[in-house]
Order: sequence, then structure tokens, then C-alpha cells
Amino acid sequence: MTEQTKVDTSRTATAQPAPPAAKSGDGQNKEAINQGRRRLVLACVWGYLGVNFLMFLRYFFPRTLFEPDTQFNIGYPSDFEVGVNQQFLQSHRVWVRKDPGSLFVIHAKCTHLGCTPDWEPTQNIFHCPCHGSEYDIDGINFAGPAPRPMDRCWISKQADGTILVNKAILFLSEPYAGIDQFNDTHAILPV
Ligand code: FES
Repeated sequence: MTEQTKVDTSRTATAQPAPPAAKSGDGQNKEAINQGRRRLVLACVWGYLGVNFLMFLRYFFPRTLFEPDTQFNIGYPSDFEVGVNQQFLQSHRVWVRKDPGSLFVIHAKCTHLGCTPDWEPTQNIFHCPCHGSEYDIDGINFAGPAPRPMDRCWISKQADGTILVNKAILFLSEPYAGIDQFNDTHAILPV
């Protein structure tokens, strides 16, 4: 009986694979963690490369601002009534101003900080919504912080009788500096 007990004890002592099994479980955990880290690093690298690739592609689509041509034809003088015409305000930011004997084109840009004033037909004035500058029907400032009248665009009568406007050439009036280009050739047309 004692011998049998001895034999059983020795069997128990020799058959103990438990510690190695625990070690392999740790190893698997570490391997899983390392795999997770590798995936994270790979995701970062691919993400970085992907963002750089998108930035590279972006160069093929520059943020170009397409502005209307500075030169445009506004038609015949007879197309306009006496007064202020707003037909080209949205497309070219100008007003056509016609008198009984003359026609000129006002650049619709406040000379204070560049806002677009509103034409107020009931009061016959231009009113700038930004800081309250006011201009008379000819674009001459009389109230608010605007330092000078609104500029006028270059105009020319074509062979067919229509009027060509060039916004790239402006005529200005600066009373305090003694400058007055409003009566220069191409600043105003007799009609
Ligand atoms: S921008 Fe017109 S008043 Fe200031």
C-alpha cells in the first residue's frame, strides 16, 4: 500500500506540464500585442503616405479664381435710360451712368475700404452698407469716411457704335491732392 502511494506520488511529480503551458499563453499574448503594434505603425505609415499622395494630387487642381474679363462691351448708348443702370453690377461690378449729354461708367467700389455700395433710387444716392459712406448720383462722396469719389472706368465708342469698357484702367478724382481725371478722354463719352 505504501509502495503504491510512492509510485503515485512519483507519477504526479514527473507529469507536471503546467508551467510551460502558462508560458506559451504569455507568449501568445505578447505576440498578439506586437501584432497590434505592427498594425498601428503600418496604419500610421500608410495614412501618412496617403495624405501626402492626396496633397500631391491637390497640386493638379490649383485654387484659381476665375474673374470676368476686365474688358467688356455694354452695348449702344441708346440702350440706357438717363440715370443709373445696374445691369452690369453683378457681372462686372460697375454702374452705367447716363446724363442727357454724356455717359460714364462708375466702378462700384467704395473708396473707403472697398465694399460695394447700394444704389438707392428713391434718394438718388449710393449708400455703402459697411461704414455708411454716401455718394451722389455721379459717385461723388458727401458723407461718411470715404476719402474721394468712386473711380470711373475707361470707355470707348467702337466703330459699330457700341461702348467698350476696360475696368483695368480707372480714372480718379482726389480733390485734396488736386487730381481730377473725370473729364479725361475715355473717362466720359458725349452722347
Ligand atoms: S467701405 Fe464703404 S464706408 Fe467703409
